[in-house]
Amino acid sequence: MSDVLKQFVMPKTNLFGPGAIQEVGKRLNDLEVKKTLIVTDEGLHKLGLSEQIANIITAAGIDVAIFPKAEPNPTDQNIEDGIAVYHAENCDSIVSLGGGSAHDAAKGIGLIASNGGRIHDYEGVDKSENPLVPLIAINTTAGTASEMTRFTIITDTARKVKMAIVDKHVTPLVSINDPELMIGLPPALTAATGVDALTHAIESFVSTNATPITDACTEKVLQLVPEFLPRAYANGADLEAREQMVYAQFLAGMAFNNASLGYVHAIAHQLGGFYNLPHGVCNAILLPHVCRFNLTARTERFARIAELLGENVEGISKRDAAEKAITAIEKLSKDLNIPSGFRELGAKDEDIEVLAKNAMLDVCAATNPRKATLEDIKQIITAAMGPVGKPTESLEAVVLS
Ligand SMILES: [Fe+2]
Repeated sequence: MSDVLKQFVMPKTNLFGPGAIQEVGKRLNDLEVKKTLIVTDEGLHKLGLSEQIANIITAAGIDVAIFPKAEPNPTDQNIEDGIAVYHAENCDSIVSLGGGSAHDAAKGIGLIASNGGRIHDYEGVDKSENPLVPLIAINTTAGTASEMTRFTIITDTARKVKMAIVDKHVTPLVSINDPELMIGLPPALTAATGVDALTHAIESFVSTNATPITDACTEKVLQLVPEFLPRAYANGADLEAREQMVYAQFLAGMAFNNASLGYVHAIAHQLGGFYNLPHGVCNAILLPHVCRFNLTARTERFARIAELLGENVEGISKRDAAEKAITAIEKLSKDLNIPSGFRELGAKDEDIEVLAKNAMLDVCAATNPRKATLEDIKQIITAAMGPVGKPTESLEAVVLS
């Protein structure tokens, strides 16, 4: 597609609300499939959620196989294992069940099922020839929005790099967002995934590819997140907060799926791939640092972000108002107990050079509003390393408590 043309891509059908998962069997029947592969992670499988979905599907007369091994940061090997099960079980469709990882793994498996080759062949933009096998994505976090995007992120284990695959063909046919599935999400995961959605909104709002359509999506996200993310974090059973965060993360997905992202994601992909850190936590730590770098390139827009996030910007200059966007983000991160830096998660100063070099090659870097040198990216990562001290002993304690 020409660089000048804009496009707007999203799933054809999107279902929202309590009880929405009950629709999955009917929607598969509409697609005239015979056997579907449920791609999920071990945790949700052990909780019995994949069995619950399998029962809904078999009740609709469709056979089911389950691949419960989508890893938190899905790898190339993970995709190979999944495609082997897909073929061995003679599947003709996929249902992904989870947050970003299950959807990303399912999209990778679907790409190979429809196009052959290895997942590495599809790194970059629109590299596949054929549409994906039918994919219905059931979301359990709010969120990566991977249930509705054309993005899939797969770790290349040899290079220890997250490959960003942006391909219109990986867009699911149907997305399902049922907030009742999110009630049990632990507070730290609620916080990390919620700040991921906020990051999508901010990066797409200041992207060089933003349009009035993506701006409209973003403006609503920036109103919803400050009200409902702290509520969902404080009380996971607050169904109204969960439902409003579903809409916030979905709108943020609509924005970044089309305007794309920036250096927060370009750098977060490297830290996540290198140290196997959760995506949302990486974004949350990087967000204020990248905003500070981008501030002069989009001063008006950062001033608007501050206003939408609830900061009082009356009677002050645009520049001062823009600074308040960073203040608002930092306050929210503090309220959500986001880790203060990568050092406490085990990141090392000697890796900064290679992380920065790889970040500059990431597809998300292309739409960042201010172009950075390698030195700039190194400075951003250095600033995001946080306080010097002993690394936190258990990452699990930080991200999954
Ligand atoms: Fe993200």
